[in-house]
Amino acid sequence: MAKKFRFRLAGRTAPLSVEGWRKRARGRVPEMVWAYIENGADDERTLRENRAAYEEWYLHQRVLTTTSDVDLRVKVAGTSLDLPVVLAPTGLAGAAHWHGDLGAAKAAEDAGTRLVLSSASAYSIEEVAQGTAEHHWFQLYPWRDRGLMASLMDRAQDSGFAALFVTVDVPVYGNRLRERRTGMALPPTLTPARVLNAATRPRWTYGYLRHRRTTLRNLEPDSGSRGGFESVEIQSANLTADIGWADLEWIRSRWTGPLLVKGVMHPDDAQRVVDLGADGVVVSNHGGRQLNAVQPTLRALPAIAERIGDRAEVLVDGGIRTGSDVIIALALGADACLVGRPLVYGLAGGGAEGVADVLRIFREEMVRGMTMMGRARVGELSRADIAPRR
Ligand code: FNR
Repeated sequence: MAKKFRFRLAGRTAPLSVEGWRKRARGRVPEMVWAYIENGADDERTLRENRAAYEEWYLHQRVLTTTSDVDLRVKVAGTSLDLPVVLAPTGLAGAAHWHGDLGAAKAAEDAGTRLVLSSASAYSIEEVAQGTAEHHWFQLYPWRDRGLMASLMDRAQDSGFAALFVTVDVPVYGNRLRERRTGMALPPTLTPARVLNAATRPRWTYGYLRHRRTTLRNLEPDSGSRGGFESVEIQSANLTADIGWADLEWIRSRWTGPLLVKGVMHPDDAQRVVDLGADGVVVSNHGGRQLNAVQPTLRALPAIAERIGDRAEVLVDGGIRTGSDVIIALALGADACLVGRPLVYGLAGGGAEGVADVLRIFREEMVRGMTMMGRARVGELSRADIAPRR
């Protein structure tokens, strides 16, 4: 009698952790896209240390005070969230999976949180507004062309985007070596070997050719068009180191809703941002992609929270991969966290469903962790809940 074999196709079961989604993602995208997602600047010290900083803290396990009713709700930028994990702006997310920013926004709202839509998104402001049920948030770079910034802000406001995140840590591009080595420059350089490599990822290649979600749709004259790399060139040409506090002041005067400034690493800058009328900051080093050898964000967080935490919102990103990481960041003074690469891993590994799964993993890990810490609400978390390694 013929023996029955049972095959389990590799990759059929969903990954059980963000790290699992990272591994899956790696196998789904061409090398150059992977380099773009993963790399940091220069020797990637800050990229590594962002992550390692979380290993410097332990959680306090408390017993016999637990509850099955853990509440993860927080308020950020005037919006109530069911989860203190926000999806960070990630440009060119459509290169990870054609679902791109729209898929991520839908996954975010299903999880009771929000996407910060990158100004370098593969779906336009209007496409995301039309394709989602909730008001998401928009990220703006302070660019050379004020007319362009004004039009993006108007479009975001008209489309119901409820808060603006101004990213201030890109006066020049960081020196990302892996990206450059694999030809993922702006615009990308293709060689026969790179095209061949893409062909080993047929699902990705089909999605790319069919949907062409790899340009910056907000910067194309007709946002539905499938233009070439003009949009990328517009962004690069707008990047200038000659931006300053006056530009932020101008943006503040034009945007009427909540405004947060992303990329703040020094308490003096945080204070100035708040004095200027911003509603909060994101303590961020752009996931180690900009200034290398700047300190990890978790280390910069407490001093900033101490300086402005009573007047403004303090968010943090960089290296957050588990529910315990979120708990540690909140215990050190953050009101909520942003995750960048975890969102892209989910997208690359499984489109919008992958992002939904990543957010579900964060939720479950947080609830499980807080239960064993005897903490019922995220607002209760404080420095007393964690201990330094030494
Ligand atoms: C980013 N980041 C980013 N930030 C921003 O303000 N605008 C953008 O367009 C982008 N684009 C972008 C692309 C990719 C592929 C990555 C990985 C990151 C930075 C992002 O918002 C966030 O600060 C970091 O990703 C946080 O670090 P982790 O979570 O990736 O470790």
